[in-house]
Amino acid sequence: MSNKYKTIHEFEFNLICEYFSNMERQGPGSPEVTLKALSFIDNLTDQSLIADIGCGTGGQTMILAQHTLGQITGLDLFPGFINIFNHNARKLRLQNRVKGIVGSMDNLPFQKEELDLIWSEGAIYNIGFERGLNEWRKYLKTGGYIAISESSWFTDKRPAEINDFWMNAYPEIDTIPHQVAKIHNAGYLPVATFILPTTCWTKHYFAPKVIANDIFLDKYAGNKTAEKFIASQCYEEELYRMYKEFYGYVFFIAKKIEL
Ligand SMILES: C[S@@+](CC[C@H](N)C(=O)[O-])C[C@H]1O[C@@H](n2cnc3c(N)ncnc32)[C@H](O)[C@@H]1O
Repeated sequence: MSNKYKTIHEFEFNLICEYFSNMERQGPGSPEVTLKALSFIDNLTDQSLIADIGCGTGGQTMILAQHTLGQITGLDLFPGFINIFNHNARKLRLQNRVKGIVGSMDNLPFQKEELDLIWSEGAIYNIGFERGLNEWRKYLKTGGYIAISESSWFTDKRPAEINDFWMNAYPEIDTIPHQVAKIHNAGYLPVATFILPTTCWTKHYFAPKVIANDIFLDKYAGNKTAEKFIASQCYEEELYRMYKEFYGYVFFIAKKIEL
């Protein structure tokens, strides 16, 4: 069954982004979970500089902005997401301290040790968990925080179908203890780790997809690539419902320490 469907990486980036533009969030998460992760961070003031890397249209960034006082830069590779991000910031009257910019997470436009907090929900996989942790660390002040959500295995062994799917989509997925060790080895003190509740997938991710699917299939009626893309999205959802005790998203909060 796994060969019948392409993974998301095999579709054109613009097509993926257009589809996800019709959703408030582009990955599993929720306002409650963003605030829970934020509750572990104690160094923020109105002078703080915060970056949200792979921010998408900014669902989580706006929540973060409403509960912090500093300057927030949201960065994403896709200009369409950044347009929506900046529109949302203006709508919420946050534009003076929340700015979306187009850029790539492998070449960040920040100064060394200028950031108090690096946020990234469901996006670090684009350069890989370990690489992101290591490369982004230099932009953080000592004592600054990193808060990342990432896909994780919940068990050491799992059924072949779900294992094969992830080995094809993102072979760097790992178990939580291994991910915590990677955080520690990269020069951070792990502060908190928690699993996102299943509603972050079902209510906040899969339910809005029903509408996004309709809009997309309506616009691209008869387009085989678009139909295959939606089929791959539905397959991902089916896999989650079948195998959710074996994997999910985990939030990792950690503090930069001197090496
Ligand atoms: C799964 S989405 C998560 C978006 C958002 N953080 C959320 O939780 O709703 C991953 C995001 O990473 C962005 N992305 C992919 N490659 C990137 C790169 N090299 N640099 C910056 N952003 C990237 C995508 O455009 C997308 O917005």
